[in-house]
Amino acid sequence: MLSLSVAVLLLPVLTSSAALSQRTTTLIPKTCFDSTSALEQYFTYNYPWGGNTHNGGARMDSAHVSISSSTLTLTAQKVSGQPSTTHGGKTIPINYLSGAVGAKQHFTVPKGGGLSFSASLKATTTKGTWPAFWLTAVNGWPPEVDMAEWKGSGKISFNTFNTSSVLSWKDVTYSSPESFHEIRCELRDVNGKDVQVKFWMDGALQATHVGGGYTGQPLYLVINLQMEGSSGSPGPSGNTTYSIKNLEVTTL
Ligand SMILES: *[C@@H]1O[C@H](CO)[C@@H](O)[C@H](O)[C@H]1NC(C)=O
Ligand SMILES: *[C@@H]1O[C@H](CO)[C@@H](O)[C@H](O)[C@H]1NC(C)=O
Repeated sequence: MLSLSVAVLLLPVLTSSAALSQRTTTLIPKTCFDSTSALEQYFTYNYPWGGNTHNGGARMDSAHVSISSSTLTLTAQKVSGQPSTTHGGKTIPINYLSGAVGAKQHFTVPKGGGLSFSASLKATTTKGTWPAFWLTAVNGWPPEVDMAEWKGSGKISFNTFNTSSVLSWKDVTYSSPESFHEIRCELRDVNGKDVQVKFWMDGALQATHVGGGYTGQPLYLVINLQMEGSSGSPGPSGNTTYSIKNLEVTTL
């Protein structure tokens, strides 16, 4: 809304194409966690590619996803007796029930364009807790951008993958996990092929990466509270929560 009115104000002094470039489109509005029906308008439960397990020790279900005060909260609960899962040919024990949501729409950085993802997140960094706010390829893999990932070590990680072994990463000390922190990630086409990825936390730029061949590739947006796996084990015996509010996705 703001940028539209800015574009209108600037119209008399700009060419129409310059004015057009000022416009952004809202793809997911900040109201998306105002109610369960708003959540369900924009997101599906579990992983957006289907399935309720992935690469860690949690099985996702909608009972561990809740909305309150315009905030989405995922809760991981220790359980026993769950069947194990497999990922990449490995058997992974399931020790938690937890929550994941995936955006119904796919996000694509077009040639000459970009995308902005922003949210306030409150996440744990204790061993065995693996919350994440991330983008991953709809077709094949990569692209993957971990806009925020916490792997149980007191840090937040920002990652952009070219291949499973060629990636840019930045691990930053994550203070005050009991508070919400502002995360913003901007993806911008640089040359019709590659995408520059910038990561901010609490308004400060943390890292700038380039994702090779990301332009034109559709992406899933995933918000999940995985457990154990890359964050170590055993995880906590009590409940762990991961909360997110003020999520907004726009074009740049
Ligand atoms: C990924 O690929 C892009 C495009 O070729 C390149 O600019 C970037 O440096 C690569 N990242 C790494 C970690 O090699
Ligand atoms: C743990 O989370 C589950 C699922 O949200 C809830 O039913 C249960 O009451 C919680 N346990 C505690 C001790 O808070």
